[in-house]
Amino acid sequence: MILVVYAHPYPHYSRACATLLEAIQDLPGLQVRSLYDLYPEFDIDVAAEQQALERADLVIWMGPLYWYTVPALLKHWFEKVLLQGWAYGAGQARLAGKDCLWVTTAGGDEHAFSPEGRHEHPVETFVPVVEQTARFCRMRWLAPFVLLSAHEVRETVLREHGVKLRERLETWLEKREPSPRPSPKGEGEREREPSPRPSPKGEGEREPSPRPSPKGEGEREPSPRPSPKGEGDSRA
Ligand SMILES: Cc1cc2nc3c(=O)[nH]c(=O)nc-3n(C[C@H](O)[C@H](O)[C@H](O)COP(=O)(O)O)c2cc1C
Repeated sequence: MILVVYAHPYPHYSRACATLLEAIQDLPGLQVRSLYDLYPEFDIDVAAEQQALERADLVIWMGPLYWYTVPALLKHWFEKVLLQGWAYGAGQARLAGKDCLWVTTAGGDEHAFSPEGRHEHPVETFVPVVEQTARFCRMRWLAPFVLLSAHEVRETVLREHGVKLRERLETWLEKREPSPRPSPKGEGEREREPSPRPSPKGEGEREPSPRPSPKGEGEREPSPRPSPKGEGDSRA
């Protein structure tokens, strides 16, 4: 099952994200949870979110790039849903082995994400915080799908990106192995681990979390990282 955790503060005014979502939403077994529709007051139903996650084999975090990261409600979702003892640490790593894909759109173009541009850094500079959130929960990080120039890009080009995203997910559906089902809470795990606090280095995890790598190793379907030249990726 593919779970799209969709975070657009104004879903009805979205152009770029809405086009990408429309392109994939009828894929078999795909469920969309539009966070800003579900939780306009930021009152996230943690149990409902965790249940949806447990059913998923691929978790997609989807939304516009806001201040170089995910919109506020998705960040809040990370804090409320990815709990110690459920997502990491003592108890269970309930998301371990699931695939995770970040689909995001950005207003900046190639030039904006260059040393001379207003964002000064390539867009991949801004990926590691989201990436490591997934990796800390022992999810398998897939190469992000990033669309640049979200405001300027023509409708036809936007739709082409929607097709590319859909094809990528269709390939994933063909190749996927179901992710391992979590065992009942606490079974066989508790004694072996101390009760960790999350730390930048990941001390206290059951085993060292994989290092982020530019190649996104551990993916089932190799696909390129966004690159400044845009080869093989999904940027405008
Ligand atoms: C609060 C806010 C922060 C933003 N931050 C960035 C940013 O850091 N980098 C960037 O390129 N675009 C940024 N943008 C532009 C959005 O990424 C862009 O509006 C969005 O991707 C367009 O997608 P949509 O049509 O689905 O809304 C920001 C926009 C807003 C409203």
